[in-house]
Amino acid sequence: MVKESDQLDLREENGVKDLIFFVNGQKRVIKSGTIDSRMTLAVYLRDHLRLTGTKIGCNEGGCGACTVMISDQHPLRKELRHYSVNACLMPICAVFGKAITTVEGISTERALHPVQERLAKCHGSQCGYCTPGFVMAMYSLLRNHPKPSIEQIDDTIQGNLCRCTGYRPILEAFYSFAEKLKLTDLTDCAKYDPTQELLFPSELKINNLHQQSFVYESNQHFWFQPTTLHHLLALKRKYPNARIVSGNSEVGVEQKWRFVESKRRINPKQIPELNQVELLSDSISIGAALSLSEVTYELKLLKAKLAASQCGVIDLFLEMMPYFAGKHIRNVATIAGNIITASPISDLNPIWMATGAKLVLQSESSGVRVVDLDENFFVGYRRTTINQEEIVKAILLPLSKQNEHLAVYKQAQRRDDDIAIVTGAFKVKIDPVTKRIENISIAYGGMAPVTKFAKITCETLQKKKFERSVLDFGMEKLREEFALSAEVPGGMPRYRQALALSFFFKFYLKTMSELENKVEEKQLHSESLKATQLYQEVPKDQNETDAVGKPMVHQSGFKHTTGKAIYTTDVIVPDCLHGVLVLAPITFGTLHELDPSEALKLPGVVQFYSASDLPDKKLGFVNDTPVFVSEEISYYCQPVGMILAEDHETARRAANLVKVRCTEKPNPILTIEEALSANAFMGPQFKVLSQMSEGKEEHEEIDWSKYDRVVKGECRTGAQEHFYLETQNCIAIPLEDDEIEMVVSTQGVSDIQSDVSKILGIPKHKIFSKVRRVGGAFGGKEAASSLCAVPAAFAAMKLRRPVRFYLERYDDMAITGTRHPFRFDYEAAISKDNKLLDLKVHSYSNGGFSEDLSLAVATRAIVSMDSVYKIKNADLYAQVLRTNLASSTAFRGFGAPQGMFCMETVLKHLAEKFDLDVDQFREDNMYKEGEMTPCGMILYKCNARRTWTECKEFSKYEQKKEEVKLFNSQNEFKKRGVYMVSTKFGIGMGEKPFLNQAGCLILVYCDGSVLISHAGMEMGQGLHIKILQIASRCLNIPIEMIHIQETSSDKVPNTTPTVASLGSDLNGEAVKDACSQLLSRLKPYMDSNPTGKWVDWVVSAYFDRVLLSATGMGRNKCDPINFETGKGGKHFAYCVYGTACCVAEVDCLTGDHRLLSTDIVMDIGDSINPAIDIGQIEGAFTQGYGLFTMEEIKVRPNGMRLTRGPGVYKIPSADDAPCAFNVSLLRDSGNPYAIFASKAVGEPPLFLGSAAFFAIREAVRAYRIQNGRTDYFSFDAPATPERIRMACEDVITEKIPQLPPDNTYTPWTVTL
Ligand SMILES: Cc1cc2nc3c(=O)[nH]c(=O)nc-3n(C[C@H](O)[C@H](O)[C@H](O)COP(=O)(O)OP(=O)(O)OC[C@H]3O[C@@H](n4cnc5c(N)ncnc54)[C@H](O)[C@@H]3O)c2cc1C
Ligand code: FES
Ligand code: FES
Repeated sequence: MVKESDQLDLREENGVKDLIFFVNGQKRVIKSGTIDSRMTLAVYLRDHLRLTGTKIGCNEGGCGACTVMISDQHPLRKELRHYSVNACLMPICAVFGKAITTVEGISTERALHPVQERLAKCHGSQCGYCTPGFVMAMYSLLRNHPKPSIEQIDDTIQGNLCRCTGYRPILEAFYSFAEKLKLTDLTDCAKYDPTQELLFPSELKINNLHQQSFVYESNQHFWFQPTTLHHLLALKRKYPNARIVSGNSEVGVEQKWRFVESKRRINPKQIPELNQVELLSDSISIGAALSLSEVTYELKLLKAKLAASQCGVIDLFLEMMPYFAGKHIRNVATIAGNIITASPISDLNPIWMATGAKLVLQSESSGVRVVDLDENFFVGYRRTTINQEEIVKAILLPLSKQNEHLAVYKQAQRRDDDIAIVTGAFKVKIDPVTKRIENISIAYGGMAPVTKFAKITCETLQKKKFERSVLDFGMEKLREEFALSAEVPGGMPRYRQALALSFFFKFYLKTMSELENKVEEKQLHSESLKATQLYQEVPKDQNETDAVGKPMVHQSGFKHTTGKAIYTTDVIVPDCLHGVLVLAPITFGTLHELDPSEALKLPGVVQFYSASDLPDKKLGFVNDTPVFVSEEISYYCQPVGMILAEDHETARRAANLVKVRCTEKPNPILTIEEALSANAFMGPQFKVLSQMSEGKEEHEEIDWSKYDRVVKGECRTGAQEHFYLETQNCIAIPLEDDEIEMVVSTQGVSDIQSDVSKILGIPKHKIFSKVRRVGGAFGGKEAASSLCAVPAAFAAMKLRRPVRFYLERYDDMAITGTRHPFRFDYEAAISKDNKLLDLKVHSYSNGGFSEDLSLAVATRAIVSMDSVYKIKNADLYAQVLRTNLASSTAFRGFGAPQGMFCMETVLKHLAEKFDLDVDQFREDNMYKEGEMTPCGMILYKCNARRTWTECKEFSKYEQKKEEVKLFNSQNEFKKRGVYMVSTKFGIGMGEKPFLNQAGCLILVYCDGSVLISHAGMEMGQGLHIKILQIASRCLNIPIEMIHIQETSSDKVPNTTPTVASLGSDLNGEAVKDACSQLLSRLKPYMDSNPTGKWVDWVVSAYFDRVLLSATGMGRNKCDPINFETGKGGKHFAYCVYGTACCVAEVDCLTGDHRLLSTDIVMDIGDSINPAIDIGQIEGAFTQGYGLFTMEEIKVRPNGMRLTRGPGVYKIPSADDAPCAFNVSLLRDSGNPYAIFASKAVGEPPLFLGSAAFFAIREAVRAYRIQNGRTDYFSFDAPATPERIRMACEDVITEKIPQLPPDNTYTPWTVTL
């Protein structure tokens, strides 16, 4: 390291020293030293300009919630550019001389932007937290391409995630700009007129700020933005330790999460020489400052000028780009940044290495140096041979030559916007006459700590004839050269080795077909989205004011798309302190001491609290969750204390400085198996015994010996992260005396009130707990919300200042728990006529360290296990295991999807073992009207068969089966599968019947307007619009006269959390009840003035001193089950049914898959709002699809959680939406047990996502059968690419050595 002075005098530096830029057309000047130069654009927009439409969902460039548009002038050509960026990774200093447009800047009070209008009208928002990001991504595209193509639209939203919608409505809205996919009538929407867009600020143009050097300093942190190469080199010589920051997509993440700080940062993006693309005699020189998107654009232009044979490397780059990060990252990230990062899983470095690219380096002292990007360039994990003073000036991409064949393959957990598991790049030159290899080069990412050249393999293949023996020989050599140990960092050793070989195999096939001029098998089938939606229209004679049954837009739809919807994170509270939790650095052990002294020295830090400051009381239903650890550390990242500071970033930095002295105990219990062997049970064993429900006095054990058609097996489902886009956050505001206001992103206002009351000892009537809307919850903001809310309340009361807590995604995913992983051990017997006779299941769920809702989840799993099938006798047992993990918690479906997954697996096992037609077998065993479930519920209005039969027709199932068969017979390495799955979901909380209640308060004002407060929280599920629709029918007034503002514990007391899909059932009934009271009070005025209007009756009643407010109550009836004896009853109010049919295509060589179609028939009674309900169905299906396929929580054997953000935890993206997504609501279903004959919808469709899993399994099975493996194979969820590939047993997987026996090595991750 060259020494350099830490102090620097800004006066010595040339350049503009104020940070000047525009936001939404308004000039902003930030004087030197007045803001922290390390701040991101997202924080500046939100905290300084109060432009809270820009959301923060992950702070690592992985979710797109923070998308904004940047406009600037090209440093070289000066032309105007518009591009989307992730504001969370954009350093505020990097916007010098640029114009920023946010979601607030694209509409006016009078007119919405067409993107905003169409997205809302297509029902493209649910919780709305992702929505501004999607709007800005699409807006940026339109600024460049007013008539975009479908491909451009798909490309532009690649970096945006939505957890609620399933993407279909978002795609529908956006595809309307390409005039495709018309489901919603958008004829009344404004046409897109590009001439109406905001102009680029003339001041920026005139002053040519982009050509001016800029330097910004705050607190001895410097940002340099030179505009000449000379200046850049001089700076780097003067400050060799200074960090070059190009796109900041790597540096920004390091700074945020690893607290890697650099006092001096130099941005080279404005230097013209580094923005050049030049065609040289045998290569293309690409300037180091060009973004990946710009390089793509330039290379496409060049391609048109070059001969096809010269474009091999260009083609590889262009092929890789759609799979490299998301659009907003590609708009800023550079090739140079990627190379210098030297990540072993870089997607580009294998290409450069295999094709012989070079790097042009330059420094002031040693001039220009050209180095090969070969095996000598990467010298270790994230290390290269570049000198400290050198900068990358350009990358030289070789032009390919005649007779060269090239290919690149990447496999990731999710197809798009995901880092690679393995990337392989290949180049071979073959003599056209002799067919001998003249030269071959192969490089892999993901197979070593560096990008690795397959030196030995390539050497041995030189000069060989390119024929089958090359394949066999090459695979053998690669297997030796790229052997991975069972303990290899990154894990998946067998899969990664299989991928390395499979890629080579693919390359061989591709080259062979090129040599033989054959058309190559293309990428997985990809078609743009097709969709239909069928639902019952409202009767023609329905009263116009009656909104029930109409597909109305979400109550906040337009506010979501314009960024005006206010979430807890957006609430502005003056004088607010910011709290950040200090987390345990170990999984299991003893906490000895906390030393906050270094943290408290940081300017802006106010206080540190730990367990010793708090009353000795615990959270949780059984008081087993400490607010802060006092002694025993039970899971990795368990909160041990909190820092309070004047701003969030200071609090984060300080929390990182708190010294946590603890000793680690060996062998934490993490897995179900470990807990079983340690007898670490939580709660009793639960039973559901059908014999007892049928009235038997004594339970008789099953005698398996009497059957000859029995299967026995085990299946598992994994954990799932809620991944609500808005992370846990809250504000605690101390009021007078002991009063406190809690504004919380929660689905249980009363739970917050109870927990604050319990820990702080304040009576509930002094705690006002409120929520306006929640940016997604899915069960994750029930018990877990108190983990932030209680510390916030404590600090606020102590310090007598408002306190805000906001969990970064990184912490949220570590601190809060997930869906329960389950293991099911089953045994089942069928009769000669294929009827289900006996089923015995022991279900084990991983509960984490505390009880939370685990016992209820476990019981729901066995209660729901029968799914839609009648079992003559079922003995179902459940146990929860205690482990050293964050407490597993409620998640949409609450154990039922896991239970039903077991049942479907059992049926598949039976069908395959006894060679039955699985569809006929399932039909033969499906419930009939009036039959009883194992837990004693008699099924009335049982629509299981109806949804099955209608789905068969709706999806053209038989035709699809034939098509799949044909496809599989014609394709060797790609297989398809088609499968139908049905569901039955019980509505009501039989586990705790008292929870089946809701209340409301309705206030009628003298202008006729009506304000409703009810017990339900709006979390995106469209509860408020449904309540408004119900109230409009009840009161017979237009919906516009009714308003819902928030949910608050001071309006409705003792509310049940909004869970179990019961929101509209219970609150709808409560509203109906209150409305009928009001109507009966108004009746005399209506009778005496029959031609009068609502407002006339209200005013008359007021003058007569009639009470114009009413409370209402909604409840349903569910009987408890005696889980001790196994005897049940009418556990649910009613059941919801549905069936889905999925077709999936699998690349058997890589494990990649694509969902080709999904058809769903869902029975949700008479829908109150079919658009909202279809949105719930699509969203739940997609979440279930994620659960059963790609979502995988990774935990190290020491308990450290690896999956802590979207970079490593993959929820479905828009690219994963099925190519055809059709939903039909069952007609004339009705439901006597819920409001206006409707049915609950939130959770029931989630299990239908497993149809995708079983379709994938069918495809895998087809491949196995082709390879002679006809036996039943167990296949656990999630069906990750690794599981799929390794189940596709073939000659390649046979070559990969088996892992040593368990317990003889330490794997990278464990199966929970
Ligand atoms: C959400 C997300 C998704 C991603 N997906 C992928 C992916 O799919 N595949 C993949 O390979 N990577 C991926 N990355 C990693 C990263 O985006 C790339 O490595 C990117 O190319 C880095 O470029 P940058 O300009 O942003 O680098 P920066 O963060 O600006 O810099 C990275 C490093 O390069 C150095 N550097 C930058 N420019 C120069 C220069 N001109 N001279 C000398 N040193 C320089 C910096 O000092 C720093 O050490 C992803 C990152 C994120 C945040
Ligand atoms: S918050 Fe910026 S991408 Fe997620
Ligand atoms: S609407 Fe997209 S995350 Fe909720």
